[in-house]
Amino acid sequence: MHHFQYKGDELFCEDVPLRKITEQVGTPTYVYSLATLERHFGVFDQAFAKRRHLICFSVKASSNLAILRALFRLGAGADIVSGGELYRALRAGCDPKKIVFSGVGKRDDEIEHALESEILAFNVESVAELSAIDRVAAKVGVAAPVALRVNPDVDAETHPYISTGLKKNKFGISVADAREAYRLARRLPNIEVKGIDCHIGSQLTKTSPFRDAIRRVAALAHELRREGVPLAFVDVGGGLGIPYQEEGEEPPSPHEYGQAICDAVEPFDGLDLTLVCEPGRVIVGNAGVLLTKVLYLKQSEIKNFTIVDAALNDLIRPAFYQSYHSIKPALRREGVGKWVTDIVGPICETGDFLARDREIQKADAGDVLAVMSAGAYGFTMASNYNSRPRAAEVLVTGDTFSVIRRREDYEDLVRGEEIPAWL
Ligand code: LLP
Repeated sequence: MHHFQYKGDELFCEDVPLRKITEQVGTPTYVYSLATLERHFGVFDQAFAKRRHLICFSVKASSNLAILRALFRLGAGADIVSGGELYRALRAGCDPKKIVFSGVGKRDDEIEHALESEILAFNVESVAELSAIDRVAAKVGVAAPVALRVNPDVDAETHPYISTGLKKNKFGISVADAREAYRLARRLPNIEVKGIDCHIGSQLTKTSPFRDAIRRVAALAHELRREGVPLAFVDVGGGLGIPYQEEGEEPPSPHEYGQAICDAVEPFDGLDLTLVCEPGRVIVGNAGVLLTKVLYLKQSEIKNFTIVDAALNDLIRPAFYQSYHSIKPALRREGVGKWVTDIVGPICETGDFLARDREIQKADAGDVLAVMSAGAYGFTMASNYNSRPRAAEVLVTGDTFSVIRRREDYEDLVRGEEIPAWL
């Protein structure tokens, strides 16, 4: 369920016609619906109502301060993977005690900042990292709270680039090695063991891999408790998929997902653990669209091209993962037929497409298209490739909207660059 719907022939975000936003803000522009965001968070939260839980929104999915603030004020914490995300989360008002820090390559300065901020826990991905955290914690003069990220060797059955829970992936510590790593963690003087963590991938469309992973982690948690390891929480990661297509795709609902997770965590019940989740996409994916304007139509002997002003630097998912995003006209026009077209951007790469061989209403130059389900991993993966200023971001609530990130200008492109005096 989301709040991007046609009223008559016009596509609205909540009560704002998208046309109005493009008239005032231009294109390309990301537009987010606050009501959708809040609804998704509420439904997800409700799915875990019967357990003590903490939802740490995965900041990498969408990191605009306004989006983060909207979620933090509902009680969300943050799953972060860099010092930059820590900075954003704190700037947006996140309670540091609700922040978990994941990622295989944490630097000393990032660890130090997180320790000084008194975050909930580091999700530690290797023994080498554990030693680094111990060393930095000694310097800061605190005990570092940690969970070990266990790699349960489960196939998430998703795109290989976003599958993380297999032995061959760089993430986490294998179940076999985790036992020894926990023993080490308990011996290290500046480490305080707090929990156990896993995350097996993103855009999962079945509950079974989650269940399998958590069962393995549960078995290990039992063993660890028997050895006296003080576990206070189990972090089950993120990864629940969303429907990108209009029909035919039915990933589990948050309710089904919550049920599956709670069932799988049941073996932990005697352990009285807090459940931590790190959802990203399911909260924000369908709460955002990318608006783009048609520049030209071009027909070759074998192809129709709709050339638009958004490109892979704005939304890299189609190029990077061959992912599907539904594309809708901001204005449906009576009597205009459909055609099959590639929707491509201005970037000088054949991989620069938003959709291929897509049947849509034939557009004219100047028409606005909405690339749907672009709220997660859209703006956060944007770049300045081809020296293209990054898009504006807009947040809608009811019949009003605000620019939450102004469109970059050319000065932004060269900020920080210097031509040496000797050149
Ligand atoms: N926790 C950890 C440790 C993660 O690595 C991720 C995502 C999440 C939570 C959130 O996963 P979600 O609930 O959003 O599936 N750029 C890709 C997705 C990369 C996901 C990376 N990790 C895409 O556009 O599909």
